[in-house]
Amino acid sequence: MKNLEFYLKDCNKKGYAIGAYNFVNFETLKGICEGCKRTKSPALLSVSEGALEYMGGTFARALFDTAKKEYKIPLFLHLDHGKSFETCKKAIDLGFDSVMIDASSLPFKENIKLTKKVVSYAHKKGVLVEAELGVLAGIEDTVSADKNIYTNPEQAAEFVAATGCDTLAVAIGTSHGAYKFKGKAKLEIKVLKAIEEAIPNTPLVLHGASSVPQSHVKTINKFGGSLENAKGTPAKALHEVATQHNIYKINTDTDIRLAYIATSRKHLAENTKNIDLRKFNTLAIEEIAKLVADKNINVFNNQNKG
Ligand code: G3H
Ligand code: 13P
Ligand code: ZN
Repeated sequence: MKNLEFYLKDCNKKGYAIGAYNFVNFETLKGICEGCKRTKSPALLSVSEGALEYMGGTFARALFDTAKKEYKIPLFLHLDHGKSFETCKKAIDLGFDSVMIDASSLPFKENIKLTKKVVSYAHKKGVLVEAELGVLAGIEDTVSADKNIYTNPEQAAEFVAATGCDTLAVAIGTSHGAYKFKGKAKLEIKVLKAIEEAIPNTPLVLHGASSVPQSHVKTINKFGGSLENAKGTPAKALHEVATQHNIYKINTDTDIRLAYIATSRKHLAENTKNIDLRKFNTLAIEEIAKLVADKNINVFNNQNKG
């Protein structure tokens, strides 16, 4: 089976991206794997610090190992947004394929120092390191109001040379969660191009890439939720960065949550006597599988690459 390093190069050569999907339990993991199996796609299975705490490292590792054995497609275990050396070390020692050290909120020199420390430990064990430079706009930010939040291309070149990180997460206008854009949704492709010119040999990563399907938002709101004005990153923009740019990995968490919650809320509201968890979990797994398969094919151009 091909390793992650193979895919780092292959996807940029052939114009596709790999989905990095967050899982937090058996159901989300199963839904993601079912989707990837249908499209024969490699994928990264991401575990955030919160998810690592929720599942426990040993459980997360065992769930992933079982899925890998069961699904027989290229699956890679990834730590998402590790904030400290200790968390990254924990994931590395657990045998994760790659870790993200997210020191992007620290001053530039501090970010370099911490990232370098993680790289040095990870590379000794053959683990790849993703770092981040720039700030993903938060829910209250108006993306166009503050240009400093975008990744600075010159700093990116200095950062990659100084740290030896394998991949770099860039800030080009996306943000985490279900409320990404107040006005028109827009990615800063000019900034992305400048970063690509500054570090042509570094595969890039896009966070905050959920599209927030309005059908799921409507269902959630209809059945007791209140996600008014939720808005995501348009699939068309994601397709462009996946196929025409050096973005190798695209992160999705929120859309998986929305698929899970929409199907569960609807089922529970329409079946008020049901107390069997498997009934709505089965529906949620299928909805996540459909979502992931659709993204792999239509957004990431990632079909039959496994
Ligand atoms: O990038 C952040 C992910 O969506 C993880 O979220 O920390 O709530 O698990 P979480
Ligand atoms: P979303 O909130 O857009 O799904 O972003 C997920 C992410 O970037 C995980 O690292
Ligand atoms: Zn992220």
